[in-house]
Amino acid sequence: GEEGDWESRPPVVTVMGHVDHGKTKLLDALRHSNVVSKEAGGITQHIGAYQIVTELEHNERPITFIDTPGHESFTAMRARGAKVTDIVVLVVAADDGVMPQTVEALNHAQAAEVPIVVAVNKIDKEGANPAKIRQQLTEYGLVAEEYGGDTMFVDVSATTRQGLDELLTAILLTADASLDLRANTEQDPQGVVIEGKLDKGRGPVATVLVQRGTLRQGDSIVAGDAYGRVRSLLDEHGNKLKEALPSRPVQVVGLTSVPRAGDTFLVVEEDRVARQIADRRQARIRNAQNASMRKRISLEDLD
Ligand code: GTP
Ligand code: NA
Ligand code: MG
Repeated sequence: GEEGDWESRPPVVTVMGHVDHGKTKLLDALRHSNVVSKEAGGITQHIGAYQIVTELEHNERPITFIDTPGHESFTAMRARGAKVTDIVVLVVAADDGVMPQTVEALNHAQAAEVPIVVAVNKIDKEGANPAKIRQQLTEYGLVAEEYGGDTMFVDVSATTRQGLDELLTAILLTADASLDLRANTEQDPQGVVIEGKLDKGRGPVATVLVQRGTLRQGDSIVAGDAYGRVRSLLDEHGNKLKEALPSRPVQVVGLTSVPRAGDTFLVVEEDRVARQIADRRQARIRNAQNASMRKRISLEDLD
């Protein structure tokens, strides 16, 4: 139904920036986790999604974070990250400065018209020059508040934990000042697939971000051209959830195939309907592929 109250939902914050500028380590510091140590070659190769509960001035507020890779080959993931988010935290290493994927990331954020908070990281390092980062970014329209602009810059160190509360405060201030973060938990559930994979034990697993409504165990779901019944919902720690509210990233187990990142999902009344929609979409994709193949063949015929 479309009834029900509009409730505030947590902001969704995508962390972006050049490779090795400390995005994952910064999220580890905020979450008290250690994802960095498990990454092959220290390179993030997929999108991670986490919700943390901040406690600032005795006020508990959740924030959803999406971690993106900084390696140059993952442009599509960065573009998707910027599209599903409310705020981008642009991480720039204070000893390295503005680099190609820093610029790429801020271009994605500006194209998606998403407010940017700049986290100037690694200020513990020798050669760190946070003033220079502010200077460099003015060229791209990001002018720090202390220079008369309207972009919040926060100096942080993921290693020493300096500036973490200030960063969270800046994120929440940005959310409160520029965004209307409300969602109706009673609406038909919808959202977007952040990542899909085939798990050896569990079969197709999709990490989805719920954007409206409440996703529940047992729901019949269509995600892109995949469908199925939600067998289990898991949070980022692997804990089972009965339901997922708006802004909650959650793993969905129970789809019959693996959806693509960027696909939207919706919930329907019956399994039968989910299957029909998925079948129609699969047929449409096949037709499009056949058409483009025919076009290729006829072009080759011209040679
Ligand atoms: P990609 O996801 O691969 O783009 O990298 P990333 O931006 O997530 O960087 P990551 O968190 O993997 O950190 C890269 C390296 O910088 C690691 O060796 C971290 O330990 C180090 N590092 C991150 N933040 C800091 C910091 O604040 N100070 C210092 N000294 N080192 C840091
Ligand atoms: Na890295
Ligand atoms: Mg990383």
